[in-house]
Amino acid sequence: TDELIVDRLDRPLRDLRISLTDRCNFRCSYCMPKALFGANHAFMPRRELLSFEEITQLARVFVRLGVRKLRLTGGEPLIRRDIELLIEQLAGIEGVEDISLTTNASLLTLEKAQRMKDAGLNRITVSLDGIDDAVFKAMNDVGFPVAQVLEGIANAEAAGLAPIKINMVVQRGVNDQDIVPMAAHFRGSGHIVRFIEYMDVGNSNGWRLDQVVPSKEVVERIAAKWAIEPVAPNYRGEVAERYRYTDGSGEVGMISSVTQPFCGDCSRARLSAEGKLYTCLFASAGHDLRDRLRAGASENEIEDALRQIWSKRVDRYSEVRTHDTKPIDTRKIEMSYIGG
Ligand code: GTP
Ligand code: 5AD
Ligand code: SF4
Ligand code: SF4
Repeated sequence: TDELIVDRLDRPLRDLRISLTDRCNFRCSYCMPKALFGANHAFMPRRELLSFEEITQLARVFVRLGVRKLRLTGGEPLIRRDIELLIEQLAGIEGVEDISLTTNASLLTLEKAQRMKDAGLNRITVSLDGIDDAVFKAMNDVGFPVAQVLEGIANAEAAGLAPIKINMVVQRGVNDQDIVPMAAHFRGSGHIVRFIEYMDVGNSNGWRLDQVVPSKEVVERIAAKWAIEPVAPNYRGEVAERYRYTDGSGEVGMISSVTQPFCGDCSRARLSAEGKLYTCLFASAGHDLRDRLRAGASENEIEDALRQIWSKRVDRYSEVRTHDTKPIDTRKIEMSYIGG
């Protein structure tokens, strides 16, 4: 059957976000706090990870069901060796329209950027939580300097991966003083800064509502400095709300998953590095696809399994959480495990 699928809330399956590793060379306090991700933390053993061939096999089935966009995430995906080989395989799947990568850019040399571009990567998104060196170093908690991330961004641009999106997770009292400087830095660069409301993902970051800076406030702070106006979404279900500088210096985005959840249009599935499928960022359990694959399931059998899973999907965590002000008390997967 070639029929596309929708879930219980009538949402199609359009995006697949693929985590390549649960490891990262940063220890961002809100994602992999050192106290929980120290020397004793058990990361996934190598044999547990999907191989590039297995990922490609699964991606091919997802594309049959309607997926058009692929995003590679981590942890930090550039820690996985030779990812350009995976990109090349994914780019060869008929029906794939867009392949992007979310990275902290710390390992993004010009050569790597060029190899990925040549393999078929369309664009990248860089996580950068501050433009002030002291703020950023404290947030990544490994003393990694801003300048080196900027160099990674420049390398991506030189390789033709522009325009680049820069994601900043905003936490009140931690880096909110960097909102305007961040906007100032990237104004006119052609890159798009997106301000992300700090979310209650995972269990390890001790999230509290008062640490969230609502996007409305971010917009106000930027608008106090430069004139901005809203722009229509690029596509249905776009996560970021777009604003442009009226003087033509480019645009910024607001990702408001706390104050204005966007579950209604959520067409995203997430695949963990060990091959579990999650139908929501806040899910507590996934569906194992790797074991089926390794047991010799055919692509048709995997397709049937995916149809079953997606057709029962009712996830809308962020919308439900909005009616409460505390994180909902369930065991959730960690952001470093599923990649955001
Ligand atoms: P493009 O529009 O394709 O460039 O990407 P995107 O904005 O959809 O994806 P990106 O990975 O850059 O998402 C940015 C951030 O938005 C993530 O890091 C998350 O914090 C948040 N986000 C993305 N998807 C979801 C989602 O399904 N649910 C929630 N609650 N947050 C999400
Ligand atoms: N809230 C919002 N965004 C988060 N990210 C990681 N943890 C959170 C959180 N608690 C973002 C990262 C990166 C992407 C993978 O997810 O900053 O941009
Ligand atoms: Fe690494 Fe990104 Fe998590 Fe920071 S937010 S620890 S860079 S995966
Ligand atoms: Fe999708 Fe879950 Fe995020 Fe809602 S909370 S947008 S259902 S991933």
